[in-house]
Amino acid sequence: MDIFKIQGPVKLSGSIRVNGSKNAALPIMAAALLAPGETILESVPQLSDIGVLCELIENIGCKVSRDEQRRLHIDATNIDNPFGDYEIVRRMRAGICILGPLLARCGRVEVSMPGGCAIGDRPVDIHVRGLKALGAQIHLKNGYIVAEAPSGGLIGTEVFLGGPFGSTVLGTANILMAATLAKGKTVIESAACEPEIADLANFLNKMGAKIGGIGSPRLTIEGVKQLKAAEHEVIADRIEAGTFMAAAAITRSKLKIDNCNLDHLMAAVDRLRNIGVQVEKYNGGCEVAAFGELRTADITTQPHPGFPTDLQAQFMALLSLANGNSVIIEKIFPDRFMHVAELNRMAANLRKEGPAVIVAGVDRLIAAPVMASDLRASAALVLAAMAAEGTTIINRVYHIDRGYERIEQRLNPVGAKIVRESVPGA
Ligand code: EPZ
Repeated sequence: MDIFKIQGPVKLSGSIRVNGSKNAALPIMAAALLAPGETILESVPQLSDIGVLCELIENIGCKVSRDEQRRLHIDATNIDNPFGDYEIVRRMRAGICILGPLLARCGRVEVSMPGGCAIGDRPVDIHVRGLKALGAQIHLKNGYIVAEAPSGGLIGTEVFLGGPFGSTVLGTANILMAATLAKGKTVIESAACEPEIADLANFLNKMGAKIGGIGSPRLTIEGVKQLKAAEHEVIADRIEAGTFMAAAAITRSKLKIDNCNLDHLMAAVDRLRNIGVQVEKYNGGCEVAAFGELRTADITTQPHPGFPTDLQAQFMALLSLANGNSVIIEKIFPDRFMHVAELNRMAANLRKEGPAVIVAGVDRLIAAPVMASDLRASAALVLAAMAAEGTTIINRVYHIDRGYERIEQRLNPVGAKIVRESVPGA
């Protein structure tokens, strides 16, 4: 397995480009299953999570390939095995997003329950609630969700998708995709408003769907008989952009971040400015500058447009060096704190209190061997290592590769000192 050796502290400068969004690409790839023909997707990042979904889609009978411009081609003409294999889904829980499209297209589908992961349980009860509301019969068999549509197809309805932690992103995606081929009108109340869901809805409308209320918590869908394959470029990855912004801040640098839509990151920009970091729109991206001391800030993660849970770990690393105490409350995945112990190994002063962490700012972080755990916690360790004194070793770098394409090849040109080494059994 690979490890990172990261020297710090470093200063960053110049400009870095954000890739296409993993969390937009995954449900859009699943949406391609709704129609026969070849869908072509631009700006789909080369990530292990994307590769796992490609494997799942090929497993159900579709053809998947990349052309020389790195565009992803999905030919969903023949689906002869509407089955989400546990051996694949357990490696990438977002595989659950094939449930809705396959049920709508094929009338019957079996998809493995996702199971838990480092950031907590990954229940799908709201996905099931929504599909049942559309008329599906659903039961569990040996860890698989078995869903069957009525003989005449799914039936449009009004459905509420709110849960104890707010809306559900992939739950909204599943119900939205299924509703496009249901008979009649569907209204989704308490839909996820994440930009990735808006991008999915825009792609579905290119396929011939009739979706209204895009970007709002109330989506309306007029069912159609048939959709057609389409071409689309996925939006920029706002979480990768936020991660790079935090990288500039924690290293007290000035950095241009290209291909970044600040409208998708207003909560994170608000916190950065509160911390004393300058963030200015710049020619299709933004420029981030941090020179003086970092001020404290309190953060509570919420569904979009609130502060994204996917930036919580990165901002915890940043606030570890602030001048005073900050409080971070995780309201989406209350157990999403695997990075706390690892950051404390680097001399951070973090104390977990239930769904909150008290961040007592320290003057400096100190390099140490640490363990990556989940995708975003791993990114937080990279940020901390770039600011820490000495050489940090991060084990299990595959977690980072799930969501950041060769991050060292993109950060080193702007000043990072990251070396990837392959260490058997690491
Ligand atoms: C998506 O996961 C993202 N993944 C996650 O990003 C992100 O953290 C999450 O949304 C929240 O923004 C993708 O888009 C591929 P949820 P998803 O359903 O859809 C509870 C990353 O780092 N819930 O919105 O699986 C759930 O337990 C990943 O890129 C139910 O209770 O998340 C959680 O507490 C990590 N019942 C909350 O809702 C359900 O049926 C939000 O989960 C579904 C969810």
